[in-house]
Amino acid sequence: APDQTPYELIGGAETVQRLVNAFYKRVGQHPDLKPIFPEDLTPVARRQYKFLTQFFGGPPLYSQEYGPPMLRARHMPFPITPKRAWAWLSCMSEALEEAGIEEPIRGFLFERLTMTAHHMINTPDDEE
Ligand code: HEM
Repeated sequence: APDQTPYELIGGAETVQRLVNAFYKRVGQHPDLKPIFPEDLTPVARRQYKFLTQFFGGPPLYSQEYGPPMLRARHMPFPITPKRAWAWLSCMSEALEEAGIEEPIRGFLFERLTMTAHHMINTPDDEE
């Protein structure tokens, strides 16, 4: 249907779950990201699953539970440098591929995630 959301186009809940798993597996091993994340990535992965579901046009699971995302504010306790934004996006780019999300939707979603990641930067590289 011409009015399908990206969420529907990529295959819904199962695909989002595969993406989140593939993503946090990389975050937990990335030298620039590992230090600012908690040891146990399970809770943040659960919240990210809910957020990405709604970000991709699926049911508003995140807002139902936590209210308005206000992601920039929620990231303020963490030093998000340009280098870390780059690292986050490189993990996400690989995860989109591993999850089997195909072009052109992959490029479309990655572009939106790139804008959001840049918006999250709150610390210069040389200050962390
Ligand atoms: C939470 C890092 C970008 C979505 C977090 C947390 C960290 C983090 C450290 C907190 C983990 C904890 O609970 O202790 C980063 C870094 C980014 C980035 C380094 C690089 C730019 C993004 C982007 C999105 C996103 C682009 C969305 C597309 C989330 C969500 C949470 C979260 C939904 C959970 C918020 C909550 O409910 O507490 N992130 N993040 N992040 N991040 Fe990011």
